[in-house]
Amino acid sequence: MKSKNPLFCDQVQPQVLGIHPYIPGKPVSELQRELGLQNITKLASNENPLGASPKVIEAIQAELVDIARYPDGSAYALKHTLAEFLGVQASQLVIGNGSNEVLELVARVFAGPEDEIIYSQYAFAVYPISAQVVGATGVEVPAKDWGHDLSAMLAAVTDKTKVIYLANPNNPTGTFFSKQAWQAFIEKVPQNIIVVLDEAYVEYAQSFLDADVFFNGVDYIDDYPNLLVSRTFSKAYGLASLRIGYMVGNPETIQYINQVREPFNVNHYAQVAAQYALADQDFVNEAVLVNQQGMRQVIEVLEELDIQYIPSIGNFVCIDLGEAALEYNQKLLKEGVIVRPVANYGMTNYLRISIGTQVENQYFIDALKKVYQP
Ligand SMILES: Cc1ncc(COP(=O)(O)O)c(C=O)c1O
Repeated sequence: MKSKNPLFCDQVQPQVLGIHPYIPGKPVSELQRELGLQNITKLASNENPLGASPKVIEAIQAELVDIARYPDGSAYALKHTLAEFLGVQASQLVIGNGSNEVLELVARVFAGPEDEIIYSQYAFAVYPISAQVVGATGVEVPAKDWGHDLSAMLAAVTDKTKVIYLANPNNPTGTFFSKQAWQAFIEKVPQNIIVVLDEAYVEYAQSFLDADVFFNGVDYIDDYPNLLVSRTFSKAYGLASLRIGYMVGNPETIQYINQVREPFNVNHYAQVAAQYALADQDFVNEAVLVNQQGMRQVIEVLEELDIQYIPSIGNFVCIDLGEAALEYNQKLLKEGVIVRPVANYGMTNYLRISIGTQVENQYFIDALKKVYQP
């Protein structure tokens, strides 16, 4: 039986009481339960609409016999494959249960009460949560044109700053900062402050940007020992359900992160899948191409309907539906389309739409046209 006012509640750490939990996209099964709909299109979690490489599926199936065994806690094989792919040493890698895990671990290793962690307004929701969990003060720097204002972030540095989180491109806004802006920033950050560059959508970003504007954070690791770059297999590689991502940095920093992670944080199937996924770059290229085409398909209709949006180089786009955004969200749900409200980011007028296949995008477009009243 539940007691009404359990005494242990008084013992919950004060920083935990203040946490606003991460709000995930609504699962298809939940909408099915709620509205009894059969045909549902989910464009709410920036997943890969093509699924995963068939080679990955085949490889995992072949490994099912090993289900009773613990995974390799050091992820030896994956780290070596990944090290070769990235042109780094295996000792420069930590593998996470999604990149979400490694992003949080950085705060645990480098910050505590009294410290400050800087991130941008509208930046990925996991950064403020990571700061709060360790009792650090989250310093939110106002965004510029929905994106990171790197000069203002530099100006926010104090002697209490321990970590700066950056997302390039950012989720949910899809904004990016250029190679020039990045270089001007990273060379000025004091070397005792950890800079985390979250590149969850790097594959899509590269496909949208000119070569002189795009940059790859891993290229800067050797020059900046305080830099950590995180990537994920959840997006372009299509492994969101398996939960696997990683962080690259200098071996010493990485070693500390490895020290605090759970011994078996990444399951065997995720490790195997990631290796096969890396080997199938044709699949990644196809996913990126489908995203480019899908983005064009959606943007064309937004322009036709005169709906404002934030230009995005990710696999999602935020659209401005004014004060009625949440009502539109409900109407789209009734049409069987799940998108993502972003009011929790302070973007009350916006909905974030993940780019799907041509057919899924059309499903969204038809529903939007049906419910939209300018
Ligand atoms: C900017 C950004 N970083 C990190 C993540 C975490 O992804 P995962 O934990 O699936 O690797 C996401 C997921 O949506 C994201 O948008």
